[in-house]
Amino acid sequence: MCEAHGAPEQLAFRDVPVPRPGPGEIRLAVWAASVNFPDALMIQNLYQTKPPLPFIPGGEAAGVVDAIGEGVSGFRIGDRVAAIPFQGAFAEQAVAPAFRTSIIPDAMGFDVAAGFTMVYATALHGLRQRGRLQAGETLLVLGAAGGVGLAAVEIGKRMGARVIAAASSAEKLDLARAHGADETVNYAEVDIKQAVKALAGERGVDVIFDPVGGDLAEPAFRTMGWDGRYLVVGFAAGTIPAIPLNLPLVKTASIVGVTWGMHSRREPDIHAANMTQLYDWYEQGGLRPAIGARFGFDESRAAIRWIMDRKAQGKVVIEMA
Ligand SMILES: NC(=O)c1ccc[n+]([C@@H]2O[C@H](COP(=O)([O-])OP(=O)(O)OC[C@H]3O[C@@H](n4cnc5c(N)ncnc54)[C@H](OP(=O)(O)O)[C@@H]3O)[C@@H](O)[C@H]2O)c1
Repeated sequence: MCEAHGAPEQLAFRDVPVPRPGPGEIRLAVWAASVNFPDALMIQNLYQTKPPLPFIPGGEAAGVVDAIGEGVSGFRIGDRVAAIPFQGAFAEQAVAPAFRTSIIPDAMGFDVAAGFTMVYATALHGLRQRGRLQAGETLLVLGAAGGVGLAAVEIGKRMGARVIAAASSAEKLDLARAHGADETVNYAEVDIKQAVKALAGERGVDVIFDPVGGDLAEPAFRTMGWDGRYLVVGFAAGTIPAIPLNLPLVKTASIVGVTWGMHSRREPDIHAANMTQLYDWYEQGGLRPAIGARFGFDESRAAIRWIMDRKAQGKVVIEMA
């Protein structure tokens, strides 16, 4: 539980009453949870959603449905599901809205399912609905070995794009290449603008997927071509960049916000269709979710620290048993 805002080390284990699903909600017995960057922000009171104290952190989990709230259809007790409660997932039982819960393929383990929805659904929504990525276009992914970044690399390839992966170490770039990246740029070592321009050629980059922000954003933006789409996904670097508005003008390019949480609530049918597509791709072997680190439930604090220390490669998973 987060009883005071601050570092993950001050989170406390507590026994609390079992949560009850309200209307439109389901409860799951959690088998695995995954850490997403917003978990680290929320416990520090730095995230846009600010739950009142005390609260149980944890945005995403997978497990077995063990209670169903009023008005929910399409789920039965015992279904194997992945769910995004946004908070409360680092617990033995968690409650999530049904529209952010999905039945997982038989072949998908709970460890994979716990880290699947948030990153792949964000990447697909960003690239398809917001970025209008087309086959043959060039996609630049920043933070390409992180959770959403690596998912964007894989989905970009599935959608037929040429993918340039950018990250801060050779090891991270090896991972991105193993997941389909065509080209790589180590922005800890080279100037990102020059390196990407050399790879993208005269046409420039068509779509940029940016979950990092900070000082990378403006030089990355300058690599875009005509009708480029810059997807604002997150600010893992810790600072929100300010792009001079002459840049979208001179390039005839767009800055496009991506908020998967809002999209799943406002456009549940599109989100459901995206999940069906993602599970189909997974079953066909077309997506290969990477779990870079595993922690036991009693190590949950270290799991959050892992992401804050920029160590995450693919997903960070907490296993309950
Ligand atoms: N818009 C949405 O709907 C949506 C949905 C999910 C997540 N997000 C956002 O996307 C971002 C990434 O989330 P994630 O779960 O994929 O996180 P993650 O796995 O930790 O990946 C973040 C990446 O950012 C880079 N980074 C640069 N500076 C960093 C720093 N100071 N600390 C940590 N990482 C740093 C790291 O790559 P390098 O070391 O290679 O630079 C890291 O791999 C977060 O801001 C999150 O809030 C947005």
